[in-house]
Amino acid sequence: MNEQQRKESTQVNPSDKKSEKDYSQYFQTVYMPPSLKDAKKRGKEEVKYDGFAIPEQFRGMGQDKKFYIRTYGCQMNEHDTEVMAGIFMALGYEPTNGVEDADVILLNTCAIRENAENKVFGELGHLKTLKKQRPGLLLGVCGCMSQEESVVNRILKVHPFVDMIFGTHNIHRLPHILNEAYMSKEMVVEVWSKEGDVIENLPKQRKGNIKAWVNIMYGCDKFCTYCIVPYTRGKERSRRPEEIVQEVRHLAAQGYKEITLLGQNVNAYGKDFEDMEYGLGDLMEEIHKIDIPRIRFTTSHPRDFDDHLIEVLAKGGNLLDHIHLPVQSGSTDVLKIMARKYSRESYLELVRKIKEAMPNASLTTDIIVGFPNETDEQFEETMSLYREVEFDSAYTFIYSPREGTPAAKMEDNVPMEVKKERLQRLNALVNETSAKKLKEYEGKVVDVLVEGESKNNPEVLAGYTEKSKLVNFRAPKTAIGQIVKVKITKAKTWTLDGEMIEETVEVN
Ligand code: 5AD
Ligand code: SF4
Repeated sequence: MNEQQRKESTQVNPSDKKSEKDYSQYFQTVYMPPSLKDAKKRGKEEVKYDGFAIPEQFRGMGQDKKFYIRTYGCQMNEHDTEVMAGIFMALGYEPTNGVEDADVILLNTCAIRENAENKVFGELGHLKTLKKQRPGLLLGVCGCMSQEESVVNRILKVHPFVDMIFGTHNIHRLPHILNEAYMSKEMVVEVWSKEGDVIENLPKQRKGNIKAWVNIMYGCDKFCTYCIVPYTRGKERSRRPEEIVQEVRHLAAQGYKEITLLGQNVNAYGKDFEDMEYGLGDLMEEIHKIDIPRIRFTTSHPRDFDDHLIEVLAKGGNLLDHIHLPVQSGSTDVLKIMARKYSRESYLELVRKIKEAMPNASLTTDIIVGFPNETDEQFEETMSLYREVEFDSAYTFIYSPREGTPAAKMEDNVPMEVKKERLQRLNALVNETSAKKLKEYEGKVVDVLVEGESKNNPEVLAGYTEKSKLVNFRAPKTAIGQIVKVKITKAKTWTLDGEMIEETVEVN
């Protein structure tokens, strides 16, 4: 920990926690609130790389203890949970499936919308009872919410029974944070407002042995005006290609069938390298050669999606032609105030290029409705863009103001009933289009990566197509973990039913 980071960590006396004090004093020098001005100035310093190892003195810390991590939010968070689980296991802890018998509970939080935050505060309310029953239990809050000053203050005031708060840049510090929490009766707050180095060799306890996530970069420099991520996740830092390739090779050797390359804005991969010109296209070209049947990546930003990447993806094979390409709005004027840095026309042009190079490509997207000032006409432009592109599906959201972002200062002048009505109309279109697309599968044969028994019926197996469609079908359990050929017999509202026609092991 350097001096600056040391200043940004603190402990709070529990007797103070219970009083009605203004806790901001603790953070005047020790914690920096999100600042667009500061954040925009960042990016000049060189990214440093470091390796992770469990400090000798902490080995065995978790002997006879169990941990439980509840994860909220995106795949990046899910994967962070895998890393933290890996660290816990390396410390000697065992995982448990419920809070009842856990000795350490972590809430890995999401800050993207207000309702995500409310869920966490609700959960903290429930966990208070457990903490009262078992004072020895350690309770921690980590993830994106911990990076927000207002959240840290609220936990200190309203939930003083929490033992640890640590940020997204402090995950590799988990052994130290746990140690501090055991040693002192004070709340441990370790939130580095500035991103640290890119840490390699992090242990990972992956969920399952069929599909795996691989981080290729951290952070986001796009600063879309509504989005909290550039503040909670810091500036863009890419992992070195050789580290990523090594990790993917290792996963292939372990028998994983599918990997998803992860980043908040994966198309910006490599932009921070000072010693070479190397982008996502180059990385995909390398990974394409590895003997792993399925490779995905998420999330793409339309602005940085370049021709070289399209050219590489068009090679097909293990590079899947399902692209998640958030558009957010179909109106150039709204996109401008969102600071998305592309127009309706340039988005459609990108879609045209993708479809030209990959005629069977499926596209999915994210859309926000009810952004400040969004008019009926502008919303209609989103609807018409959706119809034009014919996305396979979409995640749709009502705009949620996030403190510290530029949009939060704009007048949120679209009434809630209007936002809800727009969301409903959009969702109806999304559902109708998805159903139509699913119907086209009837009678066709698709490759399905079999993940296991279906949720509702253990007699039936379930898996995903290359385009991420869920397929249910009857087949022997030996098919689990394999890619098999399935003939689609029926399209349901969200899923497909089929019959396995051939059990195959995919060869690259
Ligand atoms: N309000 C609503 N939706 C948001 N998203 C990001 N920030 C907000 C916000 N403040 C959505 C975007 C993004 C997805 C992950 O979440 O659509 O692509
Ligand atoms: Fe947020 Fe994505 Fe925009 Fe980055 S690119 S600011 S993560 S919406």
